[in-house]
Amino acid sequence: MRPASLEQSRLTIYDVARRAGVSSSTVSRVLAGRNTVSEATRELVLGTARELGYRPNHVARSLARKDSATIAVLLPDIANPFFPSLVKALQDEAGRSGLVVILGSTGDDADNERRYLDTMLSHQVRHVVVAGLQLPRPELEEYAKAGLVFIALDRKLAGGTAYLVQSDNRAGARLATRHLIELGHRRIAYLSGPPGISVSRERKRGYLEAMQEGGLPVDERLIVASPFSEEGGAVAYRSLPEEEYTAIFAANDMIAIGALFEAHQQGRVVPDDFSLVGFDGVSLTRYTSPQLTTVCQDVGAMARAGVEFISSDPSASRRRTVTLPVSLEIRQSTARPRGPQ
Ligand code: RIB
Repeated sequence: MRPASLEQSRLTIYDVARRAGVSSSTVSRVLAGRNTVSEATRELVLGTARELGYRPNHVARSLARKDSATIAVLLPDIANPFFPSLVKALQDEAGRSGLVVILGSTGDDADNERRYLDTMLSHQVRHVVVAGLQLPRPELEEYAKAGLVFIALDRKLAGGTAYLVQSDNRAGARLATRHLIELGHRRIAYLSGPPGISVSRERKRGYLEAMQEGGLPVDERLIVASPFSEEGGAVAYRSLPEEEYTAIFAANDMIAIGALFEAHQQGRVVPDDFSLVGFDGVSLTRYTSPQLTTVCQDVGAMARAGVEFISSDPSASRRRTVTLPVSLEIRQSTARPRGPQ
């Protein structure tokens, strides 16, 4: 369907009603999909609307309902392939419920977040899906009071969210670390994400628990924090003492890919020189060489749960947390350690 011209977008249901010779409330009922009009009238109204090129004015409709059929999605980093895959899943799910997704990438910057949230309020967009925000709790509460409903996917917010859908990050990190231990690794490095982010903390906890369960000492030199990016992964990898580990668990796939690249530059071979595990399960990891063993998050389920909440709970008075299971996909980047342990 072509976008409405300015003139067409100025048409109202009164124009349609006048041309069709019916009342404006009849037009409104037909356009709202109510079946309280005869089939003949319905066809007449729809035919007239088509003929005039009438498009419903969503802003006016939103103002009347104090709501819109739009979900805003705010992401910290659109360049990280995990997030586009989440957006795609959200779009698919939202489309099935007749909702439209609009997108903002905040770069983890509080001023950008404010700009987006103010815009949502002025456009009557009520539901804001976020994967982490930098704004402090009191400010989020102000936005919630002003009418925004936050649905947190993946990362927790500083407080005040109606709904949180997260992966079982701790269990995922345990799975990854245990897999390495079962292969015979004893000195396992951990490239963690930024410490201020909830998923980083949970994954670190899972790694530490698995090390403890395996009776393995934790060497602080082998735990390095990194941004969730390939550049971060390359830098963090370089700061590890090479001789001290036989495996690396990275807190996300992009960190793992950065480490893999850097190792390759230095002439080291995965998994001959060390094993490597990522986290997220982005599709790119099937195309690295070697293919990356990784903990897969179910972004489809995450999106489904978020959209179900939005479509079913306009009141937003309930608070709920859903924790989704993750799975380990074992590929070519992990193997038994070579040489003495
Ligand atoms: O890759 C980006 C990371 O940040 C993911 O692991 C995801 O869980 C997010 O929080």
